[in-house]
Parts: sequence; C-alpha cells; structure tokens
Amino acid sequence: MECDLGEVLIRRKTIQDRVRELAFDIGSAYGDRDLVLIGVLKGAVVFLSDLIRELPVSMATELDFLAVASYGTSTESSGVVRIIKDLDVDISGRNVMIVEDIVDTGLTLSYLVSILREREPAVLEVCSLLDKSARRKVNVDITFRGFEIPDEFVVGYGLDFSGKWRNLPEIYTLKRKD
Ligand code: IMP
Ligand code: MG
Repeated sequence: MECDLGEVLIRRKTIQDRVRELAFDIGSAYGDRDLVLIGVLKGAVVFLSDLIRELPVSMATELDFLAVASYGTSTESSGVVRIIKDLDVDISGRNVMIVEDIVDTGLTLSYLVSILREREPAVLEVCSLLDKSARRKVNVDITFRGFEIPDEFVVGYGLDFSGKWRNLPEIYTLKRKD
C-alpha cells in the first residue's frame, strides 16, 4: 500500500506540553528513587529523548534500549515478537519503566512485559506516548499515557511507516495514495 501524509493529528506544542506533564507525573511518582528507563527502538527514541530532559534534575535515571522485530506488515503487527537488541543493564531489583511510542494491539508490550518480569525488577511500569486502545487484543497496564488516539495509522515524532517520517515534529495521519 502506498501512502501520503494526511492531516496533523497532534501539534508540536500539544506534544511538548503533554510530555512535560508526563515528566512531572513520573517525577512526582518516583521522587528520589532511581529509575531505569527502557526505550523501545526505534519509535520511542524521539519521545524518550524529550521526556528525560523534562524529568526533575534530582532524579537518578539510567537509560537503556531494547529493539524488537515484529513479524507483520508495515501497518499491522502479528504479535510474534523477537528481541534483536537486548538490554545492557541488569534490571533485577531495579525500578524499571518501558517507554513506548504507541500501544496498538498491545501484543508487543505484553510480550516485553512478560520477558522483563522474569528478570525480577522491583517495579515494572509502562509509559507510552500514544494509546490506540480501540485496537487492543490483549490487556496491558499503561501507567503513564500521553494521548488516546483514534484507530488510525499515525507517523511522525519517532513513529514510522516503512521506515519513513520518523523525523517529523508533529504527529500525522496517513492517507492512501491515489
Ligand atoms: P502492537 O504490538 O500492535 O501494540 O504494536 C506495537 C508497535 O507497532 C508499536 O510499537 C509501533 O512500532 C507499531 N505501530 C502500531 N501502530 C502504529 C501507528 O499508528 N504508527 C506507527 N507505528 C505503529
Ligand atoms: Mg514501537
């Protein structure tokens, strides 16, 4: 399927304001406890890099990344997920937060949560910029959520369509090319 950019769904300023609020909420919840933030490559990179710069300076944070490959098409995940880059940090006994760009069916996240839980972190929470809950197939707990969005494929601010459009500062819907 060939696609063009559609409309702006979430403007830059709206994203910035919400990221700031999320950082405030995370800071309030964790206080001076340490936190390992785990960005899920590649989509969450833009969100995570904005989020960490809004966290309270006093917060002891550590960063790590996971990369997963999901077998599926460019707009539909199959639920079969494989880790292609594992963590460097040992998370056992640590406070851990998975940072995602979007939770769609929830299959990727529920898989990630289940494998990270086996490593026995003290706390394991999820922060996702976007939530497309209308498409959920499995229940997942999102502790910190940026925006609920309608059932539309979106790109920009880290999110891609076949590797494209991650660099856009705003979040756009897609439209089919005619
Ligand atoms: P899930 O396993 O269906 O929840 O999908 C998770 C992954 O699919 C996300 O981390 C994204 O990488 C990708 N994805 C789902 N919906 C979108 C979208 O609207 N735009 C871009 N990527 C998406
Ligand atoms: Mg992702």
